[in-house]
Amino acid sequence: MSAHRILMCPPTHFGVRYEINLWMDTARQADDDAAILQWDQLRATLTDLGATVALEEPRPGLPDQVFTANAGFALGGRALVASFLHPERQGEEPVHERWFRDAGFETWKTTHILEGAGDVCGGVDVLFAGHGIRSDRRAHAEAAAFLGVEVVSLEMTDPWLYHLDLVMAPLDTRTVLVAPHALTAAAARAVAERFADPVELTREEAHAFTANCLVLGDRLVMHHCPPRIGRELAARGFEAIESPVGEFLKGGGGVRCMGLFLDGGPAAPDPVEVAGGAHG
Ligand code: ARG
Repeated sequence: MSAHRILMCPPTHFGVRYEINLWMDTARQADDDAAILQWDQLRATLTDLGATVALEEPRPGLPDQVFTANAGFALGGRALVASFLHPERQGEEPVHERWFRDAGFETWKTTHILEGAGDVCGGVDVLFAGHGIRSDRRAHAEAAAFLGVEVVSLEMTDPWLYHLDLVMAPLDTRTVLVAPHALTAAAARAVAERFADPVELTREEAHAFTANCLVLGDRLVMHHCPPRIGRELAARGFEAIESPVGEFLKGGGGVRCMGLFLDGGPAAPDPVEVAGGAHG
């Protein structure tokens, strides 16, 4: 069983209202009732697996608020609040900041673009942070100073996989699901150096949102598990649990986009106190 705390936001105001990633097409709207059912099912799956789900109140006019992975990145009681690239999502920033504060997190925002856990994940002794599509590499050093951990920057290359949580999922300190084609050669090497036993995804598998899973102990909650990946996971003692989120894929987000680990998530390092304060 997992003791993770995860932040979600009900899809009350979700919809494909603009196009800020290649998946979004305002002519292909989500079905509201189906979206609510899928979201409820996902929440139930996570709580059945032992996670505690915290909720953010949905606000009208913020159709992507349901993708709480982008709210920020939380580790060790600190929350780095997101700064969004697209004006369409910038209205979420004060809402997320308020949620973190009210929940008792020490909050901070970088002056550069950083789209939360969408682009940040655990990398064993370090955090990995993606850049090149949404988040700005210059935010990474600031994130490291605030969180008290080392951050390794990974440059991403596939515009369909525009957030790092579509490219890789750390499962534990040995194993990671990763789509190397979506990283520069140097970035793919940096991942390979940290994880002894990677499971590599093909372009097609990654485009099916396979890396976009929430990992709770030895269970991976994902939209759909390609059979080959199911076998690779089973051989390593992991099990994929499908919780279909097709309505949300129309917005360009899958399971992991809809849940923010409030404790860094799997394979996140322990933050150290930084001499002279966590940040300047
Ligand atoms: N429509 C949202 C956007 O483009 C989807 C966000 C998906 N989130 C994620 N963590 N990958 O920003």
